[in-house]
Amino acid sequence: MPWREKLIIALDVAELDYALELVDKFGDQIEIYKVGLELFTSAGPKIIEELHKRNKKVFLDLKFHDIPNTVIKAAIAATRLGVFMFNVHASGGLEMMTKCREAVVQLCLKENLKKPRILGVTVLTSMSQDVLKHEIGIQHSLNTHVRHLAALSLKAGLDGVVASGHEVARIKGHCGNGFLIVTPGIRPSWQPPDDQHRTMTLKQALREGADYIVMGRAILNSDNPLKTLELISLEMLTA
Ligand code: C5P
Repeated sequence: MPWREKLIIALDVAELDYALELVDKFGDQIEIYKVGLELFTSAGPKIIEELHKRNKKVFLDLKFHDIPNTVIKAAIAATRLGVFMFNVHASGGLEMMTKCREAVVQLCLKENLKKPRILGVTVLTSMSQDVLKHEIGIQHSLNTHVRHLAALSLKAGLDGVVASGHEVARIKGHCGNGFLIVTPGIRPSWQPPDDQHRTMTLKQALREGADYIVMGRAILNSDNPLKTLELISLEMLTA
């Protein structure tokens, strides 16, 4: 896959106009944009419409986590918006994920829609082993927990997971190469990690086998996002 199809920019901004200004600035260089909680809550489905008008694919990162019935309804709405990818928390459980997938497949057959890729969120990349154990109360190791949630997502028939670069090789080994892995928490070697704990460099994550890379602040908060993107594309080409 060419680097352009692997890099997803997280449009973590609050305003529709600013988001579109960035998208227009990146032009043909970026194909997939991630719309997350901040932008979707402030701009709504309009941002997805605008991205589609510009021939961009959308990863709707709202991390659904609720009772199965509510997640199904949200998944149906996301599918009707025509997103390329969306996600649910794997810790929502097998029934929630399985029913969500079944509802999406049924809808796509009935209304002749393109099926979005559905991903399970394993353990957020901002979470450390210590927090997982002492605040959330998960007694086994972070690695084991990620692998467990990835296997649960596979069992539910999802297309893949969101996981940190540190877990990619283990998940691929456990769930197979065809199981997609989308990796956030990626930093170019020259930038600090901020609130993300399990970060990895771009090159490392690609070498580990990540299918898609999500980058937000490393690009958007840099002094010159276009220049940063150029450096990132070079790093991707040499990975
Ligand atoms: O700015 P940064 O590159 O750290 O952004 C990472 C993006 O990926 C954020 O939008 C965050 O919500 C998202 N994300 C994450 N960890 C996950 C899933 C999504 O950091 N497990």
